[in-house]
Amino acid sequence: MNDKEVQQFVILDGKKTSREIEVEIGEETRKLLPVVGRPPHLAAILVGDDTASNTYVKSKFKACKRVGFKDTLATFDTTVSQETILEKVAAFNNDPRLDGYIVQLPLPDHISVEIVTDLIDPKKDVDGFTPANFGKMGLPHPSLLPATPRGIMELMTRYDIETRGKHCVVVGNSHIVGSPVSLLLAGPGKATVTVCHIYTKDLAFHTLQADILIVAVGKPNLIKRDMVKDGVVIVDVGINRIPDSSVQRGYVIKGDVDFENVSDKCSYITPVPGGVGPMTIASLLLNTLDAYKRTHQL
Ligand code: GUN
Repeated sequence: MNDKEVQQFVILDGKKTSREIEVEIGEETRKLLPVVGRPPHLAAILVGDDTASNTYVKSKFKACKRVGFKDTLATFDTTVSQETILEKVAAFNNDPRLDGYIVQLPLPDHISVEIVTDLIDPKKDVDGFTPANFGKMGLPHPSLLPATPRGIMELMTRYDIETRGKHCVVVGNSHIVGSPVSLLLAGPGKATVTVCHIYTKDLAFHTLQADILIVAVGKPNLIKRDMVKDGVVIVDVGINRIPDSSVQRGYVIKGDVDFENVSDKCSYITPVPGGVGPMTIASLLLNTLDAYKRTHQL
């Protein structure tokens, strides 16, 4: 196809899809409520005053309210000790009224993410961050999947995008997205997977091979028009705040892909915002519902 020809592309609408999932979760919650005697219950530990973290947690709890879940927020000052956070984690582990909880990241430097994560009860680890849940991803064992990778897989499934036999290129190898999504794509997704990261030489050589390109780096406009082939499926996980004085709040949100110049080469592409972000929240709700059902043997 001539590079100048405009191709019709489909928007992978995470907002719409997540609302459909929420309706399903809400219906199931209403059915289970009389059986269990209480709704599913999600909690969050939020440390410090990071604006983005505050916004994310608020969005997660708004979604809880939409589906009829109970939510509990535990907030702490940036100066809180690691000991206090570990005590809160232990208290959440032992609270039978709570099905799942998250520790919103990032944490201040004096608190070890590894030590805190290690203490989370894997049965309540609805972020899928604990070593037990991460390890089970590569096994047939049931587990709580990391929320963003689960959301990405769910979004592709609901748009009938086949991953089996496809070449998926994942850019970014973070513990939260790149690394786990590559395991899901290569395992249950039955795809051939290439993982690229900061040390990859000639990134474009790899991205040009992609039938499905997942980008989770946090660098606006990293993926440009000449780095993808025609017909590619693009999932953009980036959430970058770009200063913009022409809008009231002073910034706009952009992904890692130069959407304006790349989208017409795609068969499918996620928008930012409104793509992966809402799917992460829907997956957190799904994980909480799964944890609730497992606890009550439903
Ligand atoms: N910070 C950025 N993304 C996430 C996430 O998915 N979960 C938590 N707990 N913190 C995050």
